[in-house]
Amino acid sequence: MACQDSDLCNRQIPDHVKVVLDMDPGVDDAVALLLALHNPHLEVLAVTTVSGNVSLRKATANALKIMQASGKHVPVYMGASRPLGGRRPVHAEGIHGSDGLGNSNLPAARQRPEKTGAFKMLADLIKTHRRKEVSMVATGPLTNVAMLFKSEPSLVARLDRIFVMGGVYDPSVEGNVTRYAEFNFYCDPEAADIVMKGGRAIVSSGLDVTCDPACAVDAEMLAAISSAKSKSADLACRILQHPVSRYSQFNLHDVFALFSLLYPEIFKMERCSVRVDCSKKARGRCIVTPSDRGNVLACKKVDSVRFKEHLVDGLR
Ligand code: RIB
Ligand code: CA
Repeated sequence: MACQDSDLCNRQIPDHVKVVLDMDPGVDDAVALLLALHNPHLEVLAVTTVSGNVSLRKATANALKIMQASGKHVPVYMGASRPLGGRRPVHAEGIHGSDGLGNSNLPAARQRPEKTGAFKMLADLIKTHRRKEVSMVATGPLTNVAMLFKSEPSLVARLDRIFVMGGVYDPSVEGNVTRYAEFNFYCDPEAADIVMKGGRAIVSSGLDVTCDPACAVDAEMLAAISSAKSKSADLACRILQHPVSRYSQFNLHDVFALFSLLYPEIFKMERCSVRVDCSKKARGRCIVTPSDRGNVLACKKVDSVRFKEHLVDGLR
């Protein structure tokens, strides 16, 4: 399977892609974080947290737990505790466990979050790096990114690419919160609309591709991950055990966003423009306009064999 966009796919991954991870850990965020922290091509400059799967406090504590367990020391910055406009936040502890990490009861981290807020740090970081030197992987509600776009619009063009997990791009594919809406875009549709409309170059993995059953983690896949016999693999298995046994399989939605940066060649992508519906009736629904000049590359298909190979290798 070949990526459909020469601009994106002919890019050899340079030695070090400098990236900020914006997350709401969450089981699949945690696996994506582990993979990113150990990937030789990535230089993770910072992790920013946002309310989503769990509260901001828990998401931050979880990012720090994974950081500690992985033996890495990347700074973690707290972001938005509720969606734009201050509406009550939506959470998904039913899926991710009361601790947000599959009730894995990882030890609390010694590392504390940084005192600077997430979007102030993001603005400063983008200003101190060359134009298009920094990319983002955003795997939670897009509140932090939208706040950056609103408060520092001139910085948007300085960001390289934003790899988003969110949305549904094929109208025949159902959402996972309502008929139309995927969780991250449902939590903060206003933020999602600001980012999807204003982002310079977005690569987006929606449920169309992240719910591919051939990529889901089931007991067999868990055994394959465990066979990697590494600290990261053991940690991933500990976090996935609960949701896999409860639901018999678990979709690693957020890993797709990371892999669309690292391995674009395993995806089929289509260029489009995207707005996000903020109406009461269809909140979080994606309004997709196919366009050769669109700013969004939406992932439509994935080579599941290579996805799983990269998943196991990345945890080895
Ligand atoms: O809809 C899936 C997304 O919502 C994933 O990012 C998952 O972690 C949750 O945040
Ligand atoms: Ca997430």
